[in-house]
Amino acid sequence: MPGARETFQEEYFIQSDLLRGFVREIRDIAAGAATPAAALGSMRGPFRRLLADQAWLPEKFRLPAEKSGMGGGIGTWLLYRAADRSLSLSSLVVVPGAVTPVHDHLAWGLVGLYAGTQEECVYRETRTTEDGRCELELVATRQLSTGDFYELLPPENDIHSVRTTSRIPSVSLHLLGRDIGCVWRHQYQPEHNTVRPFRSGYTNAPCEEGPHRDLNKQQALRRPS
Ligand SMILES: [Fe+2]
Repeated sequence: MPGARETFQEEYFIQSDLLRGFVREIRDIAAGAATPAAALGSMRGPFRRLLADQAWLPEKFRLPAEKSGMGGGIGTWLLYRAADRSLSLSSLVVVPGAVTPVHDHLAWGLVGLYAGTQEECVYRETRTTEDGRCELELVATRQLSTGDFYELLPPENDIHSVRTTSRIPSVSLHLLGRDIGCVWRHQYQPEHNTVRPFRSGYTNAPCEEGPHRDLNKQQALRRPS
């Protein structure tokens, strides 16, 4: 049935007590918070501690990937996702000088630098038409160092691109309120004023197909919403 809620297995891709404790804490906060904004506020402390611990993330999840839904050898490593796909943690590895496409997330989240440095360009839509044309305005450029993090709370701060500015690959951790690699969202081409449906995938995990994915794609295709 289109829109039916599907349940899969909860998946950990790293055996780490620290990661399990972090996920427990985040799930408790999400379950008890009145709003996504309140949840994000309470998640900042645990997320800061996760970013500060350099021992728990294996080398494998800090590497670029030859085949990438993001392009440019960008690694998108899934570390954890909830059974109902309402929460995911992943690492994004961007080699020096490489830049992600301009994209949105359509979900609340926390994104922080675990290694290296990045420049983030934040955009907002100024005009969208039904024939897939979309104009963006650059609203902020931020320099991020290891340990820095920011919130995603659509529609605020939800459209961006990131570029590695360090001489080593940047590794950022992405805690999102969706199975972010597998949902359909948007990729923008600001130079052409166009937008198209986009799914980044994960380097190390498949995306299940099903009615809920198709629904997400249809939602992504239907613009303006
Ligand atoms: Fe992003």
